[in-house]
Amino acid sequence: MKKVLVLNGPNLNMLGKRPKEHYGSLTLDQINELMIKEADGELELEFYQSNYEGDLVTKIQKSLTYDAIIINPAAYTHTSVAIHDALEMFTGVKIEVHLSHVDDREAFRRINFVRSVCNVCFSGEFEGSYIQAIKYLKD
Ligand code: DQA
Repeated sequence: MKKVLVLNGPNLNMLGKRPKEHYGSLTLDQINELMIKEADGELELEFYQSNYEGDLVTKIQKSLTYDAIIINPAAYTHTSVAIHDALEMFTGVKIEVHLSHVDDREAFRRINFVRSVCNVCFSGEFEGSYIQAIKYLKD
């Protein structure tokens, strides 16, 4: 079975309390449950969230043998050379995910350090972006 790391960055532990127009109304636990349902026993999902850049980097380093990473780096998308470099080492499938339409928001959110090292990006569909990532891996 494909082993998949689902990695979420800063403030995503606060989903449910963040602006709904951008991020929808579900909590991260609820989104994780939907992903498990969608995976339907075909993927082994491991979930990890951190508000700290170094934790996310270390988690990627410890998961280099996994088949895929689904990552929403959140604000670190726009700042983190360290996450870019860690993802660059990972040879499996890398999927960038965002709840919001990250490319159509403020100019600073168009700066993206992870896009170039990911295979595909799903964004702008709230929790549906994560579900699309699962579907992509199942296909
Ligand atoms: C986000 C978009 C980022 O710009 C923002 O900092 C987030 C969440 C998204 O899922 O839409 O925290 O990655």
